[in-house]
Amino acid sequence: MIVVREARPEDDAAVGEILVSGYLTAYARKMPEVVVGEERRRTLRDVAGKRRIATVLVVEVDGRVKGTVAIFKPGAETSEAWVPGAADLRHLAVDPALQGQGLAAPLLDEAERIAREVWRVPAICLHVRRGNAGVARLYQRRGYLRSPEGDLEYPEVELDAYVLKF
Ligand SMILES: CC(C)(COP(=O)(O)OP(=O)(O)OC[C@H]1O[C@@H](n2cnc3c(N)ncnc32)[C@H](O)[C@@H]1OP(=O)(O)O)[C@@H](O)C(=O)NCCC(=O)NCCS
Repeated sequence: MIVVREARPEDDAAVGEILVSGYLTAYARKMPEVVVGEERRRTLRDVAGKRRIATVLVVEVDGRVKGTVAIFKPGAETSEAWVPGAADLRHLAVDPALQGQGLAAPLLDEAERIAREVWRVPAICLHVRRGNAGVARLYQRRGYLRSPEGDLEYPEVELDAYVLKF
């Protein structure tokens, strides 16, 4: 059975592990040139810190946490949303053993429901690493549109912006 719920403190270690192993495995398979460095791993594992500034969701499969996503309210600390009043969606990952089975969908369904129906924001913004065509397709199939005005160019990574308007 699949259940999506808000993460609790006792989920922090499992969520951090899914993020790090999920990113490492998928990038090694699809974009082997990408290095998931120490600083990035530390950020991904700081789930307690993220719960203080964002809503962190988990998907349970038969009672075990197997995936996660985070959604940040408009104006939240570290939000990278560029559309006024929009939420920012980040840190989507599924346990490597279960990637490819569509578990991102129930997580995104719930994150989008919270943004649309509970927060009543006009849009969700997100960023995808440039070149990551698989994940970009996943979001585009759900209605997210490419929005170059939100692109971010950091020294270590270039990020393509997408927006879902409600
Ligand atoms: C993104 C994710 C949650 C989707 O899970 P899912 O619902 O099981 O769907 P899939 O694993 O089949 O991923 C969808 C597509 O994205 C691709 N993909 C996923 N993560 C990727 C990555 N880090 N780099 C490149 N491609 C990636 C998959 O290969 C697949 O592409 P395809 O349709 O060409 O086969 C999961 O793949 C994951 O945990 N990836 C690592 C974390 C990540 O990259 N998150 C995205 C942040 S923007």
